[in-house]
Amino acid sequence: MPASKKIQTSIERSSFIRKMFEEGDRRRAQYGAENVFDFSLGNPSLEPPAKFKQVLKELVNDPTPRQHGYMSNAGFPDTRQAVANYLSNYNKQTFAPDNIIITVGAGGGLNVVLKTILNPGEEVVIPGPYFVEYNFYLDNHQGVPKVVNTSADFSLDLEAIEGAINERTRAVLINSPHNPTGKVYSEGEIKGLGELLTNNSRKFGQPIYIISDEPYRKIVFDGITVPSIFDAYNESFVVTSFSKDLSLAGERIGYAAANPDISDRDMISAGMILCNRIIGFVNAPALMQRAIPYLLEESVDTSLYEKKRDMLCEGLSSCGYEFIKPGGTFYLFPRSPIEDDVAFVAELQEENILTVPGSGFGGPGNFRIAFCVSDSTIEKALPGFERVIKRFKK
Ligand SMILES: Cc1ncc(COP(=O)(O)O)c(C=O)c1O
Repeated sequence: MPASKKIQTSIERSSFIRKMFEEGDRRRAQYGAENVFDFSLGNPSLEPPAKFKQVLKELVNDPTPRQHGYMSNAGFPDTRQAVANYLSNYNKQTFAPDNIIITVGAGGGLNVVLKTILNPGEEVVIPGPYFVEYNFYLDNHQGVPKVVNTSADFSLDLEAIEGAINERTRAVLINSPHNPTGKVYSEGEIKGLGELLTNNSRKFGQPIYIISDEPYRKIVFDGITVPSIFDAYNESFVVTSFSKDLSLAGERIGYAAANPDISDRDMISAGMILCNRIIGFVNAPALMQRAIPYLLEESVDTSLYEKKRDMLCEGLSSCGYEFIKPGGTFYLFPRSPIEDDVAFVAELQEENILTVPGSGFGGPGNFRIAFCVSDSTIEKALPGFERVIKRFKK
């Protein structure tokens, strides 16, 4: 048997996006790449800001020795200090380098935080629909997902979250701006969640953490701001990356920050540093770490994603699709006009439009369109979207 039974099952469970990938390749070969409209992956379409390349050139030519060697598992002190300063400017707390570890993307950071806090069999509450990798990340550290529904507009259902909490609950894992719905939680929702967890931490005699996964924090529209988790709740971690806002997804660079007011701060910090090492990352890529201090205030031009959102939303709504307009990210999560979202996505495929069924995100009855594609891909795909919905809606 080439792979373990568990991994074979996981391969099957994670097959939606993989199948879409393979189908995309097959269709590109058959119809030509320009005739396939691939909305299946959250791979940013914009180039990184020009400053990224300038900074890299300077760093590559820096003659200081040992620039590419190992460093502290937590990351270069200067990079951690720069992130700490940045977070101190945008939150009420004052951050120090020991609150920060530089990670291999947000995915790496989430694994580090989960490994640091989870005892085997402990539960993490996740509002659904959700980024499906969370199941695997939890399983990596013997955690158990407890998925709860969100409200019809994808806002947090605090009652449902409270109903899922028990003595085994270790954390609530939220993601805002949200993949796959584009939802941005309001200040009221975050404050409400903080109060709820303060009460339940007291009730169960140990902190129930918020882990806030925020790689899309800067990709917001209509002047929305994303409220601070740190300001709302002490027992909190924020995990993020530069994958989406700087379009550096392949460079694998991000960070995890613990609230300076978290309980047992030193133990948490030591745990995160150890976990970053022993998961096998050892440290985040050195060259990227050295670039980050110069790029913390930078971002791709998010108005370009906003324009894509508007084109797509206007086009789809005018032919009868229903959805909650995203406040951020580059995802739209419309209702499938038929109950079976997998069947609907297959219908779209016949028009060479590749999307992902909501079932793949614990959100059946919807489908995800990743609009991090060129404007012309959106424009050219709209007639196909219209032909398909017309078959189902009179
Ligand atoms: C919600 C969410 N969290 C985490 C990640 C992982 O980000 P990274 O590529 O920085 O590891 C993604 C990537 O798509 C995501 O959508």
